[in-house]
Amino acid sequence: MSRIVDNKSIDTAIEDLSIRPRLLDEYIGQDSLKNNFKIYIGAALKRCEVLDHVLLYGPPGLGKTTFARIVANEMHVNFKSINAPSIEKIGDIACVLTSLQAGDILFIDEIHRLPLIIEESLYSAMEDYKFSIVINRETSPKNITFDLPPFTLIGATTKPGCLSSPLRSRFGISEKLDFYSINDLAKIVIRMGKVFNVEIKENAAYQIAKRSRGTPRIAIRIFKRVRDYANYKNLLLIDEKQCLEALKLLRIDDLGLDEVDALYIKTLISRFNGGPVGIETLANAIGEESVNLEDVYEPYLLKLGFIDRTPKGRIAKKPAYLHFKMTKKYNLT
Ligand code: ADE
Repeated sequence: MSRIVDNKSIDTAIEDLSIRPRLLDEYIGQDSLKNNFKIYIGAALKRCEVLDHVLLYGPPGLGKTTFARIVANEMHVNFKSINAPSIEKIGDIACVLTSLQAGDILFIDEIHRLPLIIEESLYSAMEDYKFSIVINRETSPKNITFDLPPFTLIGATTKPGCLSSPLRSRFGISEKLDFYSINDLAKIVIRMGKVFNVEIKENAAYQIAKRSRGTPRIAIRIFKRVRDYANYKNLLLIDEKQCLEALKLLRIDDLGLDEVDALYIKTLISRFNGGPVGIETLANAIGEESVNLEDVYEPYLLKLGFIDRTPKGRIAKKPAYLHFKMTKKYNLT
């Protein structure tokens, strides 16, 4: 059980909580999400009911897990977390579900990766708080049904389109997390400075935020490397100049693009004349897996307006040509 279940009650998750925000009011950005949840949580608490099941979706690193923990904290209930790929057998999910207490939040990350049989077993668990399992399947099969306490399932996914419609329709609340603004990311970096006891100037935090691809996980990662630089140089305060020096050493492009992004765009333009080209062909040409390009790299390139996904394939757009100072080899129009 302990292998797959990360069961942290509100009181025992102290280490994480000093780094992660614990309350909706401490969570920076995603304003419409926060405002909606203030209503959902406030109403559920007033009625003394569990929160409806929640689906959180959006690109990786935007804080779906952090947000789910905050919901548990605000609802004053336990938070149990599992990762869908670690649930292989019906017995795995049976252990998790039968250990739930009334009101608990069960968080399933990457929920689109649950095996179908497990997904199907969740339908009645979500709808009627009942869980059925067949025993002695080969000899004399018998159906055993467990009554579960009322609980809330929070599913997180980067690929909402991969969820079957019966599962999707059982989430009463479905909310998207968007990329963060540079200002909100700068606020997150300043907050991290306070958590780690390193003073960072606003304009320095802004430089980190600009390079963070709209993603707190990346902002925090870059901040930690800049903090290493500051500690190494015995700096008590990180100002813009020192921050830019650290970022230069880290070779982070001023839009936060890395070598894979650059290779993606440069290959699309130089080898495929800016497209359209199929994702598999492009992935083969740069030696990356197509799912990785689709889930991790393309969402931000799309947001920057560098590429478009068309029915005929990927195409490079004007801002990409300008940023990489490239032109089409030949013009067919
Ligand atoms: N750390 C990571 N994401 C955060 C957020 N949205 N607000 C505050 N701190 C964070």
